[in-house]
Amino acid sequence: MNSSIWLFGYGSLIWRPDFDYISSRVAWVSGWSRRFWQGSHDHRGVPQAPGRVVTLFPSEAERCGGMAFEIDQKVAVEIFTQLDYREKNGYERQQAALFFTQSESVEGVFYYAAENNPAFLGPASDEAIASQIKQSHGPSGSNEEYLRKLADALRQNHIVDEHVFAIERALDNETDR
Ligand code: SIN
Repeated sequence: MNSSIWLFGYGSLIWRPDFDYISSRVAWVSGWSRRFWQGSHDHRGVPQAPGRVVTLFPSEAERCGGMAFEIDQKVAVEIFTQLDYREKNGYERQQAALFFTQSESVEGVFYYAAENNPAFLGPASDEAIASQIKQSHGPSGSNEEYLRKLADALRQNHIVDEHVFAIERALDNETDR
């Protein structure tokens, strides 16, 4: 029996895991892309004015880089109960191969919010997403902080994500106006 479980984080879990883990490694999942398409009613917005947070969207030709966390099996039930609560606004668990290199991978799990969940907002222009992020605040803080911390964490880990960086640029332009 495996003594640990791997969890892949691609959004706030990269920069605020907030749980105990044995080790962490930069990893990617294949066939998924990170998108600011999920509405946030409970963290970075409120029900009347949802913010936008990331989910993964199936995308055959793409891959998404993030952080894989190795969790001790003995505390996994407790940690996943906490995470299920944290990610309750539309996210479900999905199993996937987490790649560390082209030839090294482990089976793991990530949280993703599917297109059919009630909080899903879907695509919009970079400018529209940036504008919504600029205006949104929720119990966990501003939506802008979420975007900036995510973009910084990606850069620190040498992960390129043109979608996230384009929205960050659109937000910078909005701030400059
Ligand atoms: C994740 O970070 O892996 C899930 C989405 C989020 O909480 O931002």
